[in-house]
Amino acid sequence: MMIAQITDMHVRPRGKIAYERVDTNALLEAAVATIEALPRKPDLVIATGDLTDCGLAAEYEVLRELLQPLSMPVYLVPGNHDRRAELLAAFGRDGYFKSDDGFLHYTVEGHDLRLIGLDTVVPGHGHGEMCAARLAWLEGRLGEKPEQPTLIFMHHPPFGTGLADMDRINCRNGKAMAAVIRRFDNIERVVCGHHHRPITVRWGGSIGSVAPSTAHQVTLDLVPDNSPSTFTMEPPGFHLHVWSKESGLVTHGVNIGRFEGPFPFVLDEEYPGHAAAPKAA
Ligand SMILES: [Fe+2]
Ligand SMILES: [Fe+2]
Repeated sequence: MMIAQITDMHVRPRGKIAYERVDTNALLEAAVATIEALPRKPDLVIATGDLTDCGLAAEYEVLRELLQPLSMPVYLVPGNHDRRAELLAAFGRDGYFKSDDGFLHYTVEGHDLRLIGLDTVVPGHGHGEMCAARLAWLEGRLGEKPEQPTLIFMHHPPFGTGLADMDRINCRNGKAMAAVIRRFDNIERVVCGHHHRPITVRWGGSIGSVAPSTAHQVTLDLVPDNSPSTFTMEPPGFHLHVWSKESGLVTHGVNIGRFEGPFPFVLDEEYPGHAAAPKAA
């Protein structure tokens, strides 16, 4: 089973760009093209928040259009740049949001790997939270299938990363969430967005990770000070989480775009393993 994780697409209304500089819509279009061009296509796509830049109805309309070429199901969770009502109005009819309690969290069943999408949004704020109600919901879902390998996806990372300014607006109540995660040994990953960089950490007895944005990246500045975050146009990317019984969950980083190659490995005669290498036909 293969899952593509895209994140922080920050889609804008048609004809508009983000931060006066980033053509986020064109960059999402390139991400979708890269996913569709993979030799083995993912079974599904998850998008871990900041789907749009301002949570506007006009942005969700563009998002729907840009995701349309994907030939597999797409599951969304909101980020701090999203608005629940507008997201529900545009995607609620897809049927996977179970919003009885106001949070857009849900499980994805029927695959080898079980997926749990979490809504960490605190409306009107940049930071997120796993409050008592959300933690109880998560614990309830985890208790249903403690044997099945599970991947949790959410926007705000509930762990520290060393990106000081971003960590100030991460997911609050992370320690309490880690205590819940630690009680289960079937959680393969807790995958996040928000920090716009590829990051991996051991957390809650599992593995926490952040995927790069399909658009702009947060500047890699690990100086522990108070300077505000900035962004760069480093190559955008996404993560491919590949599940197999033999290897468990393996995560591959993918750069978005078209690159030279593929080329054959033509071995130099001086290469130490040359004699043992299979001869080309
Ligand atoms: Fe973002
Ligand atoms: Fe965010």
